[in-house]
Amino acid sequence: MYDLALKNGFVVTDTEVFRSNIYVKDEKIAEISTDDKEAKQVFDVNGKYILPGCIDTHCHFRDPGVTQKEDFTTGTQAAIAGGVTTVFDMPNTNPSVLSAKDLQWKADYFSKKAYADYGIWGLALGKLNLDELPTLCASGVSAVKFFWGYAINAKTKALIYNYDPKDTDVILPPGDGEVYELFSEMAKTGKIIAIHAENNELIQTLTDKLKQSGRTDYEALVDSRPALAEALTIQTASLLAKATGAHLHILHLTSKMGVDIIRKAKAEGVHITAETCPQYLFLSSKDYDTVGPMMKVYPVIKHEEDRLALWQGLFDGTVDFMASDHAPHLISEKQGPLFSIPAGMCGVETMLPLMLNEVNRGKITLPFIAKVLAKNAATIYNLKDKGSLTIGKDADMVVVDMQKIDTIENNKLHSKQPLTAFAGREIQGWPIKTFLRGQLVVDNNNIIANAPCGKWIK
Ligand code: DOR
Ligand code: ZN
Repeated sequence: MYDLALKNGFVVTDTEVFRSNIYVKDEKIAEISTDDKEAKQVFDVNGKYILPGCIDTHCHFRDPGVTQKEDFTTGTQAAIAGGVTTVFDMPNTNPSVLSAKDLQWKADYFSKKAYADYGIWGLALGKLNLDELPTLCASGVSAVKFFWGYAINAKTKALIYNYDPKDTDVILPPGDGEVYELFSEMAKTGKIIAIHAENNELIQTLTDKLKQSGRTDYEALVDSRPALAEALTIQTASLLAKATGAHLHILHLTSKMGVDIIRKAKAEGVHITAETCPQYLFLSSKDYDTVGPMMKVYPVIKHEEDRLALWQGLFDGTVDFMASDHAPHLISEKQGPLFSIPAGMCGVETMLPLMLNEVNRGKITLPFIAKVLAKNAATIYNLKDKGSLTIGKDADMVVVDMQKIDTIENNKLHSKQPLTAFAGREIQGWPIKTFLRGQLVVDNNNIIANAPCGKWIK
């Protein structure tokens, strides 16, 4: 007898949608068929769609370190409420993940808090932890991130969002020689080196200029961190990846210039992949007047032509998948002046609904969602048990109601500091049930898992 059955659903894969039942045994998908079989627990989903649990490889859950902003419990609860069953935690926490020892410590720490399955990012600080990378990679880190473009607080490893050259005790992004060494080392491990792609020197020069001009409007912020900053870094990184054979991943892509460079690099056979985020697909500079400073994220949201190029890139495969860059801050911190507030906002819970709404608007299909929110990330990060509704995979499933209409509101989010630039958007198409390895964990926006049940994915 099966453990669980979802009956009378429409099963969504990355290529098709078909009417079927799904049967689960020992946390895995055991059978997908129209045969009527018995199970200990049965849900008649009655013509609703069943998607693979989404994968969000880019989450800053702030734990440990700044748990007044988010912690791993609230963050992973927000994830499952949004139909995301696998998350990767970003390494800018305190302590950070610089070595195999740090990784093991964080994995143990999270095991008591996780409501979603989780991977853990490592942090590359150039020569400061170059020697640690081989063992870090061999110990099961998901990938390694390099914050090209940020000054980092030397003590806490916190990102400095508004860097002042007078700041002391900071780690500045290393020069290209050191990055070459980093890429060479990562190539040997076979793991992904992912970059925050912004050219720090260009940003510094333009920010200084801007401060002198006295401008404080949103366009001024974009002028100080333009598409050129992203493009310069992607171009350099792409050449370094070609020379060293490293697998380069571009995080949160934001610009048409960036899309064009990646398209070319892929055509030339560079091992390069890319993601973009909902904020870059659904917002552009013209939204600032209505949305306000909470849409400040790094890299900054750019112009309408960039937004359209990112959709084009996602459609033609230049951009491989989506991730949220979930990066909460204190609600109070996000209300200040544009140039001094931190960058980042909540995102893990609203990514799937925003995309489901696009299906109802006729822009995309459900199989497209299965591809860019689950399948492609699983393939790229080699998550063998995740990413699709296939026999033998983990039974991570999301039942969605394509008729349900509701508005995104800050106070409906599960994050500790619920604040999103998408508040007030009416959405048709919502996740109504989330299953993690065959266990119902969310029912109608209520977390019903009564204990942390997420596992580390090495
Ligand atoms: O907006 C952002 N916030 N961009 C990043 O690169 C980091 C993130 C954070 O951790 O706050
Ligand atoms: Zn990020």
